[in-house]
Amino acid sequence: MNKNARLTSSLYCSLLLTACETPQSTLAPAGASAEQIANLFWWMAGGAAIIWLAVIGLAVYAVHVNPSPHSEKGSRRLIVYGGIAVPVVVLAGLLGYGLSLMPKLMAPGDGLTISVTGEQWWWRVRYQSPDHRQVETANEIRLPVNERAEFKLASADVIHSFWIPSLGGKIDMIPGRENRLVLEPTRTGIFRGMCAEFCGIAHALMAFDVVVMERSAFDQWLKAQTAPAKRPVSDKARIGEQIFINNGCGACHHIAGTQADGVIGPDLTHVGSRLTIGAGTLPTTIEAFEKWTGHTDTVKPGVLMPAYGMLSSDKLSAIATYLMELK
Ligand code: CUA
Repeated sequence: MNKNARLTSSLYCSLLLTACETPQSTLAPAGASAEQIANLFWWMAGGAAIIWLAVIGLAVYAVHVNPSPHSEKGSRRLIVYGGIAVPVVVLAGLLGYGLSLMPKLMAPGDGLTISVTGEQWWWRVRYQSPDHRQVETANEIRLPVNERAEFKLASADVIHSFWIPSLGGKIDMIPGRENRLVLEPTRTGIFRGMCAEFCGIAHALMAFDVVVMERSAFDQWLKAQTAPAKRPVSDKARIGEQIFINNGCGACHHIAGTQADGVIGPDLTHVGSRLTIGAGTLPTTIEAFEKWTGHTDTVKPGVLMPAYGMLSSDKLSAIATYLMELK
């Protein structure tokens, strides 16, 4: 191996290894179904490696060790065993193993139901609070650990696909149809979900955060989400709220407890408490809110929200301060 090839292969290996530890990896499962899927993957990868070695071994044998012509009987036996019997046994075994996982993957949930709608290019998320009030949030899903949560998945426009690789398998979100998926996270942490079906220009910027918490922390969070938006505290945030309202932002966005009652875009009632904005595009910081509001067209080309580049940086900063205070 020359120096370049060695460098490339070691870079490739380290990339592969870091990929295993990221919050969006099927190989670092943090959910019951993800563990089963990862097991199935390792069994298949192991089986494929053995078969590959056997085939390469046979090829080397035929070319280098014993290149003389083979008898017709021997060749036929090789075809019957190697070409029919072994594949039938291996594939039937894998099929049986895969099917045996299905009942567990399809088992019903423990009671928590979350509706998620894919929209170009973000996620509308709805919870039912214990007192049967609907809580709407966006681009972030919180789950209690070790409980089977049921997702009701729909689409508002084109086909999207809902996938949290660390927690389980993916399923399409199809217009006019409701698909169901049950996921059971097995450890707390922050994971990343992704749209797994090409759905238009900003498909690659259609991600979401998944926060798996202890049950008590989850209850507290859900209770806080049912409350209306906090009133702005700083003067700058108060000015920001006025600019937000005066520029018509409330025609698309809802902020509970204010006159902003739009339904087209993400609910912003508690946007300051979310980990990211723009469906996983930027971290939730004042600078990111300014950048987003002023330059949506370059931050996320294709996004429906117009860029408010005509606002001065002071005004953008005031809006950002207001949004950041919406914890
Ligand atoms: Cu939504 Cu890809």
